[in-house]
Amino acid sequence: MKKHVQIFKNIADLSEYFAALIMSGVQNTPEGRSFSIALSGGSTPKAVFEYLATHFADQIAWDKVQVFWSDERCVPPDSPESNYRMAKESLLDCVPIPAGRIFRIPGEADPATAAAQYTETAHQNLIVSNGVPVFDLLMLGLGEDGHTASIFPNNIHLFHSDHPFEVAEHPQSGQQRITVTGNTINHANVVVFIATGAAKAEMVANVLAKKPGWEQLPAALVNPEAGKLVWLLDEAAAAGL
Ligand code: 6PG
Repeated sequence: MKKHVQIFKNIADLSEYFAALIMSGVQNTPEGRSFSIALSGGSTPKAVFEYLATHFADQIAWDKVQVFWSDERCVPPDSPESNYRMAKESLLDCVPIPAGRIFRIPGEADPATAAAQYTETAHQNLIVSNGVPVFDLLMLGLGEDGHTASIFPNNIHLFHSDHPFEVAEHPQSGQQRITVTGNTINHANVVVFIATGAAKAEMVANVLAKKPGWEQLPAALVNPEAGKLVWLLDEAAAAGL
């Protein structure tokens, strides 16, 4: 696994770098295939998505991109909590990506059914290697408690699930989530963490420096076997490195 840590002065520079990752990935995708991206949720990606919508609507061959999600809240797609709705409003409605290439997690469904359905969706629409669906680029965020996607420290066992997607639960709110699991994360060709802001600095340092107790941090278990691991940080989130 090759790990790259890139530190940026601002979200614009970070977004330019992220856009370049997508652009080169799409350009290197063989004719007849699609470039599959799993989007992360939360607030951090929103500014990146908005930047892509503003500056890269015409620069990326969006018709060669397939969009999935790393995780989703178990809410309807029009809920303010929905990761799908956030991505739709900040990016997908602004770029020429065919609706048939957007594969949202059915947050409105029964959670166990949604996890099983999305596992099937991944198997049907992605390359499968050793029984594991392979994302070309999988985005992840970092929680201040070391969670990533919706794998929280108190349910870290989900990281080791044999199922590509599982039902999770937010430790404070109890909100049910559908989350990608560790084996699928670690089979992605490129995994991109995006973390910004001073509040993430301590956890970024804990994860990247594998400080004592790192084994209890889901984000620290991300270790793509053959893929590339990229951390995109702003200076505030990188302050502890
Ligand atoms: C979610 C995300 C979650 C998020 C982190 C960071 O559905 O909320 O998948 O893992 O990436 O909690 O969230 P912020 O970017 O809002 O800090």
